[in-house]
Amino acid sequence: MHNFFARRTSWNLTTNRYTEALAAHRRAGREVLDLTASNPTIIGLRYRDDELLKVLAHGEALTYNPTPQGLLAAREAVSTYYAAHGSQVLPDNLILTTSTSEAYSFLFRLLCDPGDTVLVPAPSYPLFDFLADLHDVKLEPYELVYDHGWQIDFHSAQAAMERASRATSRCRAVLAVHPNNPTGSFVKPREAEELNRICAANEMAIVADEVFLDYSLGKDPPLTFSSNSTVLTFTLSGLSKISGLPQMKIAWIAASGPQPLLSDAMSRLEVIADTYLSMSAPLQWAVPVMLEERHGIQRQLRQRMTGNLAVLDAELALQELCRRLEVEGGWYAVLRVPVVGPDEDLAIGLLRETGVLVQPGHFYDFASDGHLVISLITPGDEFAEGIRRLLAFVAGRHS
Ligand SMILES: Cc1ncc(COP(=O)(O)O)c(C=O)c1O
Repeated sequence: MHNFFARRTSWNLTTNRYTEALAAHRRAGREVLDLTASNPTIIGLRYRDDELLKVLAHGEALTYNPTPQGLLAAREAVSTYYAAHGSQVLPDNLILTTSTSEAYSFLFRLLCDPGDTVLVPAPSYPLFDFLADLHDVKLEPYELVYDHGWQIDFHSAQAAMERASRATSRCRAVLAVHPNNPTGSFVKPREAEELNRICAANEMAIVADEVFLDYSLGKDPPLTFSSNSTVLTFTLSGLSKISGLPQMKIAWIAASGPQPLLSDAMSRLEVIADTYLSMSAPLQWAVPVMLEERHGIQRQLRQRMTGNLAVLDAELALQELCRRLEVEGGWYAVLRVPVVGPDEDLAIGLLRETGVLVQPGHFYDFASDGHLVISLITPGDEFAEGIRRLLAFVAGRHS
C-alpha cells in the first residue's frame, strides 16, 4: 500500500498526543480556556457585516474575465495599501492568490527545481514543512536567537547554506517572516541589508511573509520588503490577517527587484497563475471594500493585544518563575517557563488540570524546551483567567 503513493505524501498521519488530549477533553464536555485563538472571525470582533455581504454581489462578477495576475481593480487596491506604507508597488508587479500558501506554492515552483533548498527561520510557522514537501523543496533552517530581543543568527544561515552545498543542493531563496510567527520579531534594517548581501552573492531571492506587518507594537511603522530592489524579492500578504478575513481567501505576491530579472519573474509567474486561474470574480471585485475593513479590525485587534499584554505583564510581575519574551508585533507572545520536561507534556498537563490550552514551543521548532506560545488576540476575560491558571499551575508544579 505504501508504494502506491508518492513518497512526498508519506507523512506521519497519526494524531499527536496534544491533539488527542484536546479531543478527549472536549469529548468529556470539559471547559477549554483557549489561549491559542487565531481565528479572527470567532473572537468577538465587530465587522461591517452588511458592507461585506453586499460587496460580494457586485454586478461585474457575473462576467468571466480571466486575468492571470488578478483583476486590475483588485490589484490597484492592493497598490493603495502599500502606498499607505510608503511603498510604491505597481499593479503590474502583483499577482493575486487564494492564500499565502498558494503564493508560496507559486514561488517554490518558480524558483526551485526538485531537491533545491530554501532557507527558513527557526523558530517559525510550521506549515513550511508541508509546503516544501509538496513541491519537492528542501528546507534548511537558520536560527533566530534570543538575546535582548530576537535576532537572526547569520552564522547559522551560513552553516545552513554550507549544509545545502555539501548535499549538492542549490540554495534558491531565503524566507523571512516579518514579523515572525510566533516570536513577533521584525527583520531589522541591518539584517535586511545582510540578507540582500547573501542573496546577491549567491543568486538567491528573498521571500518575505508580511501577513502580520500591520500588527506592529512599536511606534515607528515597520519597513516593508515590497520596496526592496537590491535583489529579486517576493513579498507575501493577504486579507486573512490584514482585515481578519481568512475565509475570503485573498492573498498576493508583490514582486520587486532589479530589471530585467523582475520582468522575467513576472512573466513566468503569470504562466503559473494562468495555469490555475484560481481567483473567483466575486471575491476579486470585493477586494477594495475588504481591504478598507482593515481599519476597524486592526483598531480592535490592537486594543485587544495591548490590553492582554498589560494583563499578562501585571500577572507576570506577581511571580518569578515565568517571563515573556520581547514581542515587537504579530498576534502571539512567547512565555519562557522552567523546564521540567518536554513542553508538550506541560501543555497537556495544563489542559487536563486547568482547562487552559496553549501551544508548546516545539510546534514551532524552538531550539530548546521551556517555551509556550499564547495568542494575544484571545478575548480579554478568557485571556486573563487563562494566564492566572497557567501561572498557578507552573508554580504548583515547581514547588
Ligand atoms: C506566517 C504566516 N504566513 C501565512 C499564514 C497564512 O495565511 P493565509 O491564510 O493567507 O494562507 C499564517 C497563518 O497563520 C502565518 O502565520
